[in-house]
Amino acid sequence: MDRELGSGYLLAPSILSADFARLGEEVERVVEAGCDVIHVDVMDNHYVPNLTIGPLVCAAIRPHTRAILDIHLMVRPVDALVPLFARAGADIISIHPEASDHPDRTLALIREEGCRAGLALNPATPLACLDHVMDRLDLILVMSVNPGFGGQPFIPSAFEKIAEVRRRIERHRERTGRDIRLEVDGGIKPDNIRAVADAGADIFVAGSAIFGAADADGGYRGVAGRMRSALMAEAEWRAA
Ligand code: DX5
Ligand code: ZN
Repeated sequence: MDRELGSGYLLAPSILSADFARLGEEVERVVEAGCDVIHVDVMDNHYVPNLTIGPLVCAAIRPHTRAILDIHLMVRPVDALVPLFARAGADIISIHPEASDHPDRTLALIREEGCRAGLALNPATPLACLDHVMDRLDLILVMSVNPGFGGQPFIPSAFEKIAEVRRRIERHRERTGRDIRLEVDGGIKPDNIRAVADAGADIFVAGSAIFGAADADGGYRGVAGRMRSALMAEAEWRAA
């Protein structure tokens, strides 16, 4: 399954913070509330100290939405799971370079399976991991928390990393004419999303901020609206 990544800012709720007893309904509700991408955090209690879901859950939510299914694989080894998630309806599959013995081969495998390929960079992962795979990438996922859990605070050092990745993406675009999306993941809230956009991000993962707002003022529509307003304000500011 492969849906266009389009352009412009995209909100990507992470289902890690959703009500898993009503997951299909939750996915429908956040998309109705104005979110664009469903971020699916896959953890194996080996690469990260937590255990979440497998391809079955991706297949279960696929019929509930036409939104992009953005699979974040925090698993090692990773290659065997790529075709299973692709066949379960994934649109994007992101891997961590530390989780593959041959990242170039794994990224090529993701595309061979018909998905967009992403590389996820932990806070301590050097950007040198990008040096020889930019042509393999449709998305770069900058982690602004250490992977494994929702609800963690945003790590401020991510701002400079986001800006450097943005510079590399722009240089790549000038050289090849091809865009690469810049997704940031972890600790994103209505009050910091504009700064994350200013640094260079264009896809914003938010788990606890969105799903934690189920019964807060305005619910999912309210928090998605606050995030969009902050982003639009930033866009107007840039246009000024
Ligand atoms: C962490 C995951 C993130 C996390 C985001 O390992 O990759 O996607 O669920 O959750 P919040 O937005 O609550 O930090
Ligand atoms: Zn994630």
